[in-house]
Amino acid sequence: MADDNSQTRFKAVCLTLFPELFPGPLGCSVTGNALKQGLWSLDTLNYRDFALDKHRTVDDTPAGGGPGMVMRADVAAQTIDAGLKIAPNARRIYLSPRGRMFDQEFAKELALEPELLLLCGRFEGLDERAIEARQLEEVSIGDFVMTGGEMAAYCLLDAVVRLLPGVVGAASSLDNESFEANLLEHPHYTRPREFEGLEIPSVLLEGNHKKIDEWRQAEAEAITKLRRPDLWQKIEGNE
Ligand SMILES: C[S@@+](CC[C@H](N)C(=O)[O-])C[C@H]1O[C@@H](n2cnc3c(N)ncnc32)[C@H](O)[C@@H]1O
Repeated sequence: MADDNSQTRFKAVCLTLFPELFPGPLGCSVTGNALKQGLWSLDTLNYRDFALDKHRTVDDTPAGGGPGMVMRADVAAQTIDAGLKIAPNARRIYLSPRGRMFDQEFAKELALEPELLLLCGRFEGLDERAIEARQLEEVSIGDFVMTGGEMAAYCLLDAVVRLLPGVVGAASSLDNESFEANLLEHPHYTRPREFEGLEIPSVLLEGNHKKIDEWRQAEAEAITKLRRPDLWQKIEGNE
């Protein structure tokens, strides 16, 4: 991934049973270019490399019985400790459906960190003692359950990396995006002027920037009220 990441401002270390999944989609487009430019770095550690037996076992049956397998605390802790050698100041995040919900505000908060250690779980997840002993912060990307944390790590890192300085070309293109000021974004249009009988709203073609701004603001408000009354309530609460 990044050859020499000692100078990189933002370092991510992903702990996973499937290091081959990285950088995956993060290696493409905006995040991929930023990775190549050294604006951020990505390392992976495989839990299996820190297993304590010759079979490289990382999981075991749940104490108290029940279905599935649990990731062993000792193996996870060894992997975390190795990750902290790469990223000693890392915020330690365990991707977990039980965690604090990830959102744009949280992405901004994490973009200020120099380093992140991201633990991708598998099976039934981590033995609770690994979470406790290594003071992991649990973060969820939504109220649904996936088979592993790797895709959650993609989502989190994609949202964070695009906020790092120099990653997205024109910083102003981030200003009006959805969730800025709790508003969803206004609709976008481009050529052709007419598509299957549908026209671009005329205000966008008239060159009056004050009117265009007003139209966009009104559209953003209407769409937020309709689709996300929870966000709209936050705006009204702040007024
Ligand atoms: C099958 S899940 C474990 C679910 C767990 N038994 C529960 O009910 O909360 C396996 C792993 O996928 C990841 N994962 C699944 N859904 C997630 C979500 N919504 N957000 C973040 N990580 C998730 C976590 O790393 C988790 O340890």
